[in-house]
Amino acid sequence: MKRPRCLWSGVAATDSSFRSRAHAILKYSDNGRGGRRWRSFHFVVLGAGLLAVTLSSVDNLPDLLDRSLSLVIALVAGVFLAEYGVRLWSAPEAPAYSGLSERHARLRWACSISGLIGLLAIVPAFAITTRTVKTDSDFAAIFCLLWILKLSVHAPAMGTLGRVIANERATLASVLIIFVIVLVTAATATHFFERTGQPEQFGSIPAALWWAVVTLTTTGYGDVVPHTVGGKMIGSVVMVSGILVLALMTGILATGFSEEERRREYLRVWDQVTKVPMFTELGTVTLSEIVSKLRVRHYPPRIVVVRRDEPGDAMFFISEGEVEVRLPREEVRLGQGGFFGEMALLDRSPRSATVVTAQPTTLLVLYASDFYEIASHIPSLVAAVEKEARRRRDRNEATSQ
Ligand code: CMP
Repeated sequence: MKRPRCLWSGVAATDSSFRSRAHAILKYSDNGRGGRRWRSFHFVVLGAGLLAVTLSSVDNLPDLLDRSLSLVIALVAGVFLAEYGVRLWSAPEAPAYSGLSERHARLRWACSISGLIGLLAIVPAFAITTRTVKTDSDFAAIFCLLWILKLSVHAPAMGTLGRVIANERATLASVLIIFVIVLVTAATATHFFERTGQPEQFGSIPAALWWAVVTLTTTGYGDVVPHTVGGKMIGSVVMVSGILVLALMTGILATGFSEEERRREYLRVWDQVTKVPMFTELGTVTLSEIVSKLRVRHYPPRIVVVRRDEPGDAMFFISEGEVEVRLPREEVRLGQGGFFGEMALLDRSPRSATVVTAQPTTLLVLYASDFYEIASHIPSLVAAVEKEARRRRDRNEATSQ
């Protein structure tokens, strides 16, 4: 029987129950069609809600616009309320809560970060229905604060940022300690030099701290400035220190991000590599060497991956899906475990065919420079590729006659 086309079609749910399908769609990491559609819808609703709240804070809007904005705010609040309800109801389906009772699983989800963000987002719905806050009142602006947190769930690198901070916590803590040392030293020293000339701004160390923070973070409002030579000299040192501390912080986070991304990419590739028999036949050591050189790319159907007569700079292994090789006289299909794009690299010639994805396809890309490097390290792999390329060349020559 043909399955009805619905919002969640394409979701790989673990069982067929309605609740597990709902849970699969709402999962932020779901890459199925239903999950992507839900995320787009959620993003649009959130954007509309935030825009409506922002605009409604403008005074003297035309009456019609004001009423429309109120309606949008109420609708968005309703959507978030419904979303929270469904998430809470489907929480027992989360693998992380398997083994827990339904009530316990729901409680655990409600206390998680995502649950708390969801809870904050439904506050406006209650405020509106209980008439605590009217959608057209000045207090409605607070909804913006409650909803803006929902935007974080759309940031794919949020989890990575959390891991980077956790991994680099010792280094970050050291930089923060240096920051505090410079801050307190600067505030104390300027208090010493400036306290008689500017008692209001530098009369105490806490008062001088405001100037120290503004200067050390290189913000420099200019509302408070030292007048004595000693104060100015300290100010100069603090400004330079501020740049150094910020540069250190940026460097630590940037390095942490790139390392984390490299680790994630390695795992992503490893996951896909195991689906290509050609690779699994290699030993673990060789495999780990090649994994670091491959890149994972996901393609929707009907996308041209390589075009005939164009120069070739990479070859591709199919870990999922299927491609169509369009030769001048025939079309060949290659499925999971197959590869293409090797001929241009081996012969250093233009592409012999156009290759198009026939369905959603995941490819492992091996760039030319890495291919030539691997040729000397893993001769067995390259020999297998060469053998298949020879067979294809012969076949193409035979069919073209
Ligand atoms: P390349 O020439 O780099 O780019 C097009 C690719 O299509 C080619 O490498 C091969 O990988 C692939 N190809 C060419 N001919 C055939 C064939 N007869 N059967 C399967 N694949 C082919």
